[in-house]
Amino acid sequence: MAKELIRLVNCSMAFDGEVVLDNINIYFNDKKFLTLLGPSGCGKTTTLRIIGGFLKPTSGDVLFDGVRINDVPPHRRRVNTVFQKYALFPHLDVFENIAFGLRLQKKPKLAEAEIKERVLEMLEVVNLKGFEHRQVSSLSGGQQQRVAIARALVNRPEVLLLDEPLGALDMRLRKDMQNELKRIQQAMGITFIYVTHDQEEALSMSDTVVVMNEGKIQQIGTPEDIYNEPKNAFVADFIGESNIVDGIMHEDGVVEIFGRKFKCLDSGFDPMEPVDVVIRPEDVDIVPLKEGMLTGLVTNVTFKGVHYDIIVDFKGFKWLIQTTDFCPVDSKIGIKIDPDGFHVMKKSKYSGMFGDYSSYSDEYDEISDSEYDPEAEEEDGQGGGYYED
Ligand SMILES: Nc1ncnc2c1ncn2[C@@H]1O[C@H](COP(=O)(O)OP(=O)(O)OP(=O)(O)O)[C@@H](O)[C@H]1O
Ligand SMILES: [Mg+2]
Repeated sequence: MAKELIRLVNCSMAFDGEVVLDNINIYFNDKKFLTLLGPSGCGKTTTLRIIGGFLKPTSGDVLFDGVRINDVPPHRRRVNTVFQKYALFPHLDVFENIAFGLRLQKKPKLAEAEIKERVLEMLEVVNLKGFEHRQVSSLSGGQQQRVAIARALVNRPEVLLLDEPLGALDMRLRKDMQNELKRIQQAMGITFIYVTHDQEEALSMSDTVVVMNEGKIQQIGTPEDIYNEPKNAFVADFIGESNIVDGIMHEDGVVEIFGRKFKCLDSGFDPMEPVDVVIRPEDVDIVPLKEGMLTGLVTNVTFKGVHYDIIVDFKGFKWLIQTTDFCPVDSKIGIKIDPDGFHVMKKSKYSGMFGDYSSYSDEYDEISDSEYDPEAEEEDGQGGGYYED
């Protein structure tokens, strides 16, 4: 069992009466990598500053190892922070930048030999061995970022807070540093609380992802949970591409969309409950027209390297489908979706706001109903996801 290290209990934050964090409850486990993910202004940095002790919540408690630390100042917390603007000291070399925090330590004051040992150890951890006498202004962005991380880690905090630390780096370097950070976190065996608005970064690095919007937690889970089982339309849309349509849950395992019933794997809804249904672009198979559970008209094709993004109009609803088969604009296609390709969610305040790709292409194209005959398919034993009474 993972040990709990930090807990925010009913934390709210208001600035001049405006609520920016609304009753947040999260716990952070020891030695894990947790990411706060959400769009700009959702309250990620505010949450981090409350944990770091730079802000006191308007209401609620911050616990460290079960002890309330609301009134403990930042330097007395066993936490260190790497900010987006890493604010290295330009007049000091790499060694002195990293040694800075150690030299401030008074009780007990550290011997020069120990400072040297710890700085060199950190340089090794961040792959900057031999860089100790370089001026920080002569380093690349990625190297400066590593110095900032070494500087934060050298004090041996139990928790490292990282606020969009890779924001200034280009794509390639960002990817390298993502792997690097994950390696450092595991090698040092400390807790990382990471902030980003980049969903791919969050999914690839974290043990746990906390999705936030408008000062509220929308969902907490593993990257797989968040992607495969989004709680509401906001999460489904924010994490990857999603087609989100209105549906009706007839009974366990049977959902209706576009006036037709389909087999799905979801359960636990009221009979005939209105729901939101997510279908990921990669879960839609293109099949010959006659075999399609639905048929649609291709209105837009974009080559993406590994696959094509195609926009397909189904009775006026435009879906995004990712396929390696080329389908030209104006072609009619059939589609098939396996039962595990449907994900059914409760209606929420975000229903109807996301998951629609109409803006890709404005023209309205009339679409005929599918010629797909579910009974014929049952007979030849190919029973797909289509469901018929
Ligand atoms: N000191 C402050 N005074 C007034 N409002 C503030 C203050 N700090 C933050 N806010 C407001 O709180 C909200 C949340 O800000 P926060 O910095 O936590 O967002 P964020 O999720 O980190 O966004 P970003 O991704 O843009 O960094 C914003 O609307 C912001 O304007
Ligand atoms: Mg921020």
